[in-house]
Formats: sequence, structure tokens, C-alpha cells
Amino acid sequence: MKGLILSGGKGTRLRPITHTSAKQLIPIANKPILFYAIEAIVAAGITEIGIITGETGAEVRAAVGDGSAFGARCTYIPQAAPQGLAHAVLTARDFLGDSSFVMYLGDNLVRHGIVPVVQEFERLHPDAMILLAQVAEPQHFGVAEVVDGRVIRLVEKPAIPKSDLALVGVYLFTPAIFEAASSIAYSARGELEITDAIQRMIDTGGNVVPHLITSQHEASVATWKDTGRLEDLLEANRIVLDDMVPRARAGGIADDVHIEGKVIIEAGAELRNCTVRGPAIIGQRTVIDDAYIGPYSSIYHGCTVRRAEIEHSIILEDVRIENVTGKIESSLIGRGCVVHESRRRPHGYRLMLGDHSQIELG
Ligand code: DAU
Repeated sequence: MKGLILSGGKGTRLRPITHTSAKQLIPIANKPILFYAIEAIVAAGITEIGIITGETGAEVRAAVGDGSAFGARCTYIPQAAPQGLAHAVLTARDFLGDSSFVMYLGDNLVRHGIVPVVQEFERLHPDAMILLAQVAEPQHFGVAEVVDGRVIRLVEKPAIPKSDLALVGVYLFTPAIFEAASSIAYSARGELEITDAIQRMIDTGGNVVPHLITSQHEASVATWKDTGRLEDLLEANRIVLDDMVPRARAGGIADDVHIEGKVIIEAGAELRNCTVRGPAIIGQRTVIDDAYIGPYSSIYHGCTVRRAEIEHSIILEDVRIENVTGKIESSLIGRGCVVHESRRRPHGYRLMLGDHSQIELG
């Protein structure tokens, strides 16, 4: 089998971060989301991986390289425009050849990986296998209707969903998908929808098998997250930090530092006069000084947090947060941002924000 990861698209719901970088490279617990996808595919024994890229292709390529760091061989497949998931499959046709493949959306996180799913696909040999999860708001996803264990209908983001079964962003296909994807029309949002292509397979007698990854019973512990929106990213960050295996602390920790719970401190980080309450991760060369870092915080590399408090947030590379009285929480702060309080008069908020930034003043 081969792997196909989709890392193109626009990421409009995560602006302004995605104005300048790929949403699939936003770090969750200090590791790009995309890396979790690659690792999950490699863990399932698949090492030949194609990566669909769009405008941010150069950045994705620079981050992943040839794949050898993951024990994989990665081939980059530029998609001229983000014209849909089925369009991406057709774009990768030469790479995929006559191989079956797992298609993995590069902004999805599947908590327990895909090993059992790939094994089931290889055992059952269906034309396609789709992963489903029960969700509270199915209207944001592709939605499946399943009767007697058989998928009968798939609809992309229906206004009135017929079930609470959302399509997870991991699909297993035989080359039969090419025929189906070639014979559908563009949807109202101007995309070749993978849901329509799979529906075509069903309508022409194909065997499409559902694999439920979350039951209602387990739903309180999310097993899957589409990280398209800020609240989903923060939840993905919580899930991964909760699951994290503690590692040896690699940074410098002064005597006046209190560390509570599961805290990972990466190489070259410096902590002074602060409390860090886990689960949390402090990135390489980051300085935490006279500060509080609360649960579910991921502070990336090269940051400075001084005389400030942060909780339940994702802070990207080289951010400087200094002299902030109120606690920063449930936030996503992009690369190189500076947040500080000033004593200048007149008092007031002085802002320089990128397009589509969001500020909530408490
Ligand atoms: O996350 C699961 C959902 O993913 C499914 O329930 C939906 O049925 C499916 O259509 C998809 O919906 P989204 O609206 O979340 O898809 P999005 O546009 O965010 O694209 C998903 C990934 O694929 C993302 O990493 C960007 C990439 N992509 C997207 C398009 C449209 C491409 O590489 N090329 C594309 O043309």
C-alpha cells in the first residue's frame, strides 16, 4: 500500500496564521500536525508516501524533507489549485499507480493511529473503507448514513444531517476510486468532493465498508480531531499533551522553579523563578522568567515569557510575551509576535495586527 497525505488547501478558518504558513505545520505539543499523520502511516507499515501540496509547498517540503527522518520516502505532488479532495486524488494518480492507498488529511489527528484500520482493510479487501466518528455537530463534516452496517449515502456538510456519523479524514481506497472521481461534477462550493466520488462507488455497486472509530460512549475522550478551527487545535493540543510520555528534562532549571505534573522541557530552555503546571511543553531555547505556565500550554522554540501568565494556549516560534498583567489563555499566537504592556501615556491599546487577526480584550 501507499500513503497519500493532503497538505494543500487554504486554511481560511485559521487566518492570520495561515496567511503566512501552512496550517498542517502548526505545532501540537511542539510538533507539526502533519508529522503525526506521517508517523501514523509509517506505524501502519506504509513507507511510500505522496504529499499533496499547494501554495505552501516549499515550507512543507522544507519541514518534512525526503521523509527519511520518519523512515519513509516522501514524494511531493503539487496541486495547481485546491479544487477538492477528489481532485487531489486524481492529481496523485501517476504516483499511486495501481496500488491501494490510505489517504490522510494533513490537518487531522487520529489519537490511536490507523494500524487496526489498515489491517482490517487488508483483511476484507473492500473497494473502499471510510472511517466514521459520532460527533455533536455533524453539519461541519461529510456525513454518512449507515443501514445494517452498510454505507448507503454520504453528503458533504449537510444543513440537516441524517445521522451524527462524521467522515474522519482518513480513507482507504483501491484504484477503483479513480474511475469514480473522474465521473463526478464540481460541487456548489466549486470542489470535486471525495464524498461524491465515494457515493459514486456505492451507486455503481462498489463495496464501501464503514469503520467506526468512536462510539457515543467514548465520545467524551475524543479519538479524532479535525484541526480546522482554533478551538479544535486547542483540543488537539490537550489530547496530545495528556497522552504524552514524560521525557528527561533537557533545559536549565533554576532552584526557584516549581514544576507540577507532566512537563516536558526541551533542550536549551531556561526556567527561572516560575511555576509550570502540566501537562505542558516548553520548547528549545525558550526562556521562562518570573512567570506562570499553566496546564495545556505548548510554548514553541525560541520564545521569551517574562512577568506573564499563560494557560491552555499554543505559542509558536520566537514569540516574546513580557510584562502582561492579565492571564493569556485559550490563545494561538503566531511566529515572532510580541505582546507586552507599556507604561507610555496616554494609556491605551496599541495594536499592529495582521489581516484577519482576532483580539478578545477581557
Ligand atoms: O476532517 C474531516 C472532513 O474533511 C470530512 O468530514 C469532510 O467530508 C471532508 O470534505 C473534509 O472537510 P474539510 O472542509 O475539513 O476539508 P478541508 O478543505 O479543510 O481540507 C482537508 C485537508 O485537505 C487540508 O489539510 C487541506 C487539504 N486539501 C484540501 C483541498 C480542498 C488539499 O490538499 N487540497 C484540496 O484541494
